[in-house]
Amino acid sequence: MKNYRSYRDLPSLAGLCALEEAMAPGLSVEKCVARLKRYHYAFKRLHHIFNARITAEPIYELKMGFSLHAHLCAEHATALRARVGEMREPPLGLEVVPDKNLEIFFDEIVAAPATETLIAGIYQKAVPALKAALEHHVAQTNRLTDAPSVRLCRFALLELEDMAAFGLKCAGSLISAGQAEAMRPWLTLLDDCLSAAGGLDGSRESGGKEILRQFSKTPFQFVKTPRRDARFPDPYNMGVNAEVFLYDESMPADAKVLMMFYKRLREIDVPEMMAGIIAETPGKPWNYYRDMTRQLWDEARHAMMGEVGFAQAGVEWPKNVMINFTWSLGLNTQLTPMERHGVLYFIEQGLMPKNGKRHEWEVARKSHHPLCALFQDYDWADEVLHARIGRDWYLKEFKNAAEGVEYGDRCWSKVLVGWNQWRQEGLTGHRNWWPDCYRQACQHWNVEADPRALAYDTTYEQVRADLKAISASG
Ligand SMILES: [Fe+2]
Ligand SMILES: [Fe+2]
Ligand SMILES: [Fe+2]
Repeated sequence: MKNYRSYRDLPSLAGLCALEEAMAPGLSVEKCVARLKRYHYAFKRLHHIFNARITAEPIYELKMGFSLHAHLCAEHATALRARVGEMREPPLGLEVVPDKNLEIFFDEIVAAPATETLIAGIYQKAVPALKAALEHHVAQTNRLTDAPSVRLCRFALLELEDMAAFGLKCAGSLISAGQAEAMRPWLTLLDDCLSAAGGLDGSRESGGKEILRQFSKTPFQFVKTPRRDARFPDPYNMGVNAEVFLYDESMPADAKVLMMFYKRLREIDVPEMMAGIIAETPGKPWNYYRDMTRQLWDEARHAMMGEVGFAQAGVEWPKNVMINFTWSLGLNTQLTPMERHGVLYFIEQGLMPKNGKRHEWEVARKSHHPLCALFQDYDWADEVLHARIGRDWYLKEFKNAAEGVEYGDRCWSKVLVGWNQWRQEGLTGHRNWWPDCYRQACQHWNVEADPRALAYDTTYEQVRADLKAISASG
């Protein structure tokens, strides 16, 4: 065998690995599947944790990071499900908990009482454990026989490394030495869970230690009320109606660019709302969660486009743009998950006709603002995908499309907007922040502010975002 050579020394085995490696015993199909199911379980639980903590997590950057990481975990869980299905496995048993100590491990993390403990649990324990398990798989399995699994592991590792790097920075900035010290016993408990489970992949002898739950003694409950950090000082502010401005032909295009950035950044409330639908709708086929999480991530991305737009236009958005949470707050606290999905679908199918996303893109192009045009181009493309996701998962519940649309409209009208009540309670003055925002951008662009645009003063008191009169007002 020593003399065995490939033709003219070309890479043998399609370049997968060396011959010696392909002679290694590797993992049997049974062992391989048992491990794949554990990785799948870990990605599924991480997806659940990220999603379940988006709404009540106040820090904007973490909301965005969790949205991405929920999406990545959903994608890898999807790929692993398919792989398990290829391995003589029916019935697949993908909904079975592979180990009760692994279950406690993830239960503890989702129930972490504060941002700091959550970050430490996810990024210092769960992500590294999963990463080590996948590396171990690639090292142990036969790279020829199990090439399809190796491929999935390698792709997943790329993104787990990104997640770990993000988490490391967050932990470095957010967790003080004192906090790290205080949470040490809990992090040790997480280690104990993994040891008791025989490692995340179950490849080691399981330690016999009885695990006592700490944070998950009372089961985790999804928190519906959105929370925001200090850069959102006026979250009830509905003082500037972006849509009325955008459809006003007489308003200047460059000012409309800012209104579109505002609308994009305000999309932060869509992940806050969609996370609740996903968290509170159990029992759907896996692809429902996968598709809905993809959409959630797109919405987070749209919010970040707005952030980038304001930064480029020299507008300090925390000070001069009031990003409210009234939509996610209203929907999450007043409607059932199905009703919220109805509102989402109603809004998104309404974006498709000519006066919706196409209009925004055309306005952006007319304004000769290439970045805004690019954002609107992708925002539009993403929204077309979302309308499709809505047709696949929401509309199916109705006899016909018209019924589904009508239901969504009705649900939206049901949401009480406390425009006056919030003012009376001192929660907001509905301050018109628009002139400050517009003036700051004009200074940055070195152009004269348009007096008509500067004088704009239309709120959401009477007209909701689809330009319909608000019927119910608390
Ligand atoms: Fe959106
Ligand atoms: Fe969008
Ligand atoms: Fe959307």
